[in-house]
Amino acid sequence: MANIKDSKAGSATGRGTPRVDGPLKVSGVAQYTSDFHFPGMVYAVPVEATIANGRVTKIDTSAADGMPGVRAIYHRANIGTISRSVQGTGFEGITDERRPPFEDDIVRYYGQYVALAVADTFEQAKAAADAVRVTYEKEQHNVETELKADDEQDDVTTTSEPDPRLQSQRGDFGGAFASAPVKVDQTYVTPAETHNPIELHATTASWDGTTLTLYETSQAIFNHRGVLAQMFGLPIERVRVVKKFLGSGFGGKLWPWSHSPLAAAAAMKLGIPVKLVVSRRMMFQTVGHRPRTQQRVRLGASPDGKLLALEHDYVNHTAIRDGYHENCGEATPFFYSVPNLRVHFGLARRNVGSPTAMRGPGAVPGLYATESAMNELADALQIDPVTLREMNEPEIDEGLNIPFSSRHYLECLSVGAEKFGWSKRTPEVASMKRDGLTLGWGMAGAAWLAARFPAEANVQLRDDGAARVATGTQDIGTGTYTVLAQLVAQKTGLPLDKIEVVLGDTSLPPGPISGGSTVTGSLVPAVFAAADNAIASLFKIATAADHKPNGGEAGVNVFANRKPEELGIENGRVFVKERGADSGVAFADVLRRANVRMASGNGTAEGTFGDPNPKLSTHSFGCHFVEVTWQPEIARLRVSRVVTVIDAGHIVNPLAGRNQIEGAVVMGIGMALFEHTVYDKMSGAPINSNLADYVVAVNADVPPIDVHFLDYPDKEINELGARGIGEIGLAGIASAITAAVHHATGIRVRELPVKIEDLLM
Ligand code: MOS
Repeated sequence: MANIKDSKAGSATGRGTPRVDGPLKVSGVAQYTSDFHFPGMVYAVPVEATIANGRVTKIDTSAADGMPGVRAIYHRANIGTISRSVQGTGFEGITDERRPPFEDDIVRYYGQYVALAVADTFEQAKAAADAVRVTYEKEQHNVETELKADDEQDDVTTTSEPDPRLQSQRGDFGGAFASAPVKVDQTYVTPAETHNPIELHATTASWDGTTLTLYETSQAIFNHRGVLAQMFGLPIERVRVVKKFLGSGFGGKLWPWSHSPLAAAAAMKLGIPVKLVVSRRMMFQTVGHRPRTQQRVRLGASPDGKLLALEHDYVNHTAIRDGYHENCGEATPFFYSVPNLRVHFGLARRNVGSPTAMRGPGAVPGLYATESAMNELADALQIDPVTLREMNEPEIDEGLNIPFSSRHYLECLSVGAEKFGWSKRTPEVASMKRDGLTLGWGMAGAAWLAARFPAEANVQLRDDGAARVATGTQDIGTGTYTVLAQLVAQKTGLPLDKIEVVLGDTSLPPGPISGGSTVTGSLVPAVFAAADNAIASLFKIATAADHKPNGGEAGVNVFANRKPEELGIENGRVFVKERGADSGVAFADVLRRANVRMASGNGTAEGTFGDPNPKLSTHSFGCHFVEVTWQPEIARLRVSRVVTVIDAGHIVNPLAGRNQIEGAVVMGIGMALFEHTVYDKMSGAPINSNLADYVVAVNADVPPIDVHFLDYPDKEINELGARGIGEIGLAGIASAITAAVHHATGIRVRELPVKIEDLLM
């Protein structure tokens, strides 16, 4: 039976811990990017192209120039030089849209910025932006939804580097599929989806003649600093990026978008702070989206359900100039045991802004397709879908031919089935009823990568009895502040309210990007090392002979003749181990007695992400069991119950962790039933670019969600065994929902989202 628990006595980690930054957020003290105000600050509003393909032939600013409060109207001819950034090793110089703003007069997608109005107030800037007259030479745009790979080269030019079309291969797929007794051959489509965090993208830029400071909606402040330094030819130390609180991002805020250098350029030219807040409409145009995907999955199996052949062939749309690869095949090579496999992909260029990573990039749309195909295979074989998965459990990662560090997928399945009551399922379509409703039950598996990014941290133990931990990562809203406080509490025994956590500033030691569900895993070793080093320093101070250099009445130093290794720390008190913790002295007293303000320690940890020769395959696993209710009389479909089981290693904060999985399931309901960015064939614009027409799941759509964590520490990732939980909850859920829809209605929907008209019989 699973080891499911919320707390561990005497340990600060593994315990459900409310957000330490919660009071700051609910009281309005927490400052988001657009909350920063500076004396003399002015406002910038971009002018959006109203064509999706063509050329700007004229920008007439005569009406806008003289409007009240207008400071400047910038465009290609007067903004100055904004250069390209070049991607280096690690997280350096990354943008998804490689073209810096205003580089040429070509428009490649609707809403691309063509000018920038700057004025004393936001309203004046908006009015001026609206008054800029732009003339275009329009060409036919392509926002076609049917996707066919653009080219047939072996290597696809992607944004970062050439990527082989053949992503993974073993055995002989063609031969094995041809002779397989039972086959599934289906194509699955996921639509473009737009990240809609509550906090709009924004930049508040200031320039003091030396240093460019950006208050920026960034999930990766160090990369952002590097990109802006490259764009403006500035030394790296003369760019500072600050991000104290994120109103989430879902991946949309990983890499800089063009509004940021525009705000920076205006601030540098005018010499006054400039604030630019992207509108909700612009969020659909210029700051990335999850691309549309079209995925053909072919499965071959023996009559008793053993997978013989698997092919995953997918295409994603991308921007004209930016080759964003939605890595749909990420989980395909290792998820199930299959001797003959082929994964390949292509890109289809469209007149859309660059796509970007969105929560569980690649694996989320990919697993929707492959897990849907597994469910179709189970039905074709008349085998229970859980049983089919159990029958194809691999012993090792067959894609890389290495063992898994920790994989408990089978236990996820059995725990989930038991919690859900899956054994009561009758497989015939529409065979289950409750309260006059038709029930549909479906399930699917989930996987997401686990890795560490390089990280540095500093821990100070201060003479006021508090500790401070600092690292240049960000809290995207998942609970990073809280987890770091827990880690320091674990090492020192201090209560959480005595631990100050400082994040979100490039003046701090470099921390990991808030991406890939890796922040906690990456920071455990860095923060633990920093805390250990601070404590080692504290013990050295405690045992030093020359205490109280200024004289005084401090009395005997109980640690004077001890060696540092004879000491311990508990509840913030230093003690001689052989005397026991009860004899402890508060570390603040130890410091003060020695006339020392603080014991400080730095910690660094290497990354594991991108290791070309990993010895172990590190992933998290999970599964979803979903119930829908269906009323055919009025075509009303509801998700009525979800059970999710997650194997993500040790869970440092089960309260925040459960919250992540619940949030991902909510997003999954949106993915399955509602979310869909529609590009208008006439204008090329993302036409439903607002929260009324782009429908996301809201409270009324969300049923009880039962989340269970298996708590198997994965020591390959760090000493606590904590992997990540930010993204995995969204993997697989859409296929569990569409399987439940099929069970209730008999209709297979293979293009998301499921629409009412799909279900009208
Ligand atoms: Mo996440 S899409 O890696 O921010």
